[in-house]
Amino acid sequence: MKKAIEIKKGIYWVGAVDWDLRNFHGYRTQRGSTYNAYLIIDEEITLVDTVKHYFYGEMLERIKSIIDPADIKYIISNHVEMDHSGSLPEILELCPDAVVVTSPNGEKGLRQHYYGLDWTFKTVNTGDVLSIGNHDISFVLTQMVHWPDSMVSYIEKEKLLLSNDAFGQHIASDERFDDEIDIDIIKNEAAKYYANIVLPYGVSVQKALKAVSSLDVEMIAPSHGIIWRKHIDDIVTLYKKWSENQVETKAVIVYDTMWGSTKKIAELINDVFNGKKITTKLFNLRDIHISDIMTEVLDAKYVCVGSPTLNNGIMPTVSAFLTYLKGLSPKGRIGLAFGSYGWGGQSIGQIYEVLKSCGCDMLEAISFQYVPDNEILRAIEEKVKDDIVASDYGQN
Ligand code: FEO
Repeated sequence: MKKAIEIKKGIYWVGAVDWDLRNFHGYRTQRGSTYNAYLIIDEEITLVDTVKHYFYGEMLERIKSIIDPADIKYIISNHVEMDHSGSLPEILELCPDAVVVTSPNGEKGLRQHYYGLDWTFKTVNTGDVLSIGNHDISFVLTQMVHWPDSMVSYIEKEKLLLSNDAFGQHIASDERFDDEIDIDIIKNEAAKYYANIVLPYGVSVQKALKAVSSLDVEMIAPSHGIIWRKHIDDIVTLYKKWSENQVETKAVIVYDTMWGSTKKIAELINDVFNGKKITTKLFNLRDIHISDIMTEVLDAKYVCVGSPTLNNGIMPTVSAFLTYLKGLSPKGRIGLAFGSYGWGGQSIGQIYEVLKSCGCDMLEAISFQYVPDNEILRAIEEKVKDDIVASDYGQN
């Protein structure tokens, strides 16, 4: 029997744990995830968000462990995406008079997801307050964190921020709070979540942080993963850092190789950075998922990408990474394109252009024909050294 878990007096987690999830639209979720819905018991019982449609039964069981779902008066939809709205149609069949509280874009988005349903909407904007008895719930619209409809809900009486996607992590667990499992795992998954989902929306995140900075918060309950109650300052500081694109003196070097020449240069570049006291992460794309690379790109100043030329272009693994990187487009990075070729050599220019279109300041590309001998390797080594120093981030 699935049970509701009280997270604050009269406020319950009634979500679902997705132990089996390993892919979230292209993001490798190696630890699974949760969809967090919350139930507020008051004069007007209020459900905040729901779960993916195929977890409806689990959410319902948790709700039924404390109330009759027919008694729900409000359902707050902080975000239209279907991992949070997917069970709205079914739960509303049990409480058809419940009012769906959402942002203006939320109403529009829900109507475009769930056609023909006769729901009663109440739209809210930043600063609006919904009184449900002993609790006042206020709202802050957080457009583009993660969709145009996104908003957060705040319960002043309990100093509780229901932050939806913001501050989330994809972790499946029986534990609900950040002082119950290894904080390094939570922070790493929060970084991965930010890097793969929130990264393009840094300006929106900064606006949202500013909007909620005046709130007195002692618990942040996101819609995925673990609830923050002990490490709130840490995660808010990290979100500030990530949203401002603050980076470390760190280089991520990503490549694929055909006969080992591009690999040789990748390793050489790695050694040059290390020699300049710059931390490196070196990834052969055959052995790692692109979403894990993005976690490392999140705080890296340098992004170096290499591919030999294959059929006048880039190797498919590298193309996939570049497509993904371009979608997320981290700001303020320095890019380096490199690779070997037999004839043609188009891959290097193509990588260069993609990195440039991401907004990277580009170092001069490195290319060479067939297999580099010691003389070529020494020349490349000196060139990369000089370019790093010229880019102002190396240490002589
Ligand atoms: Fe967890 Fe943007 O949905």
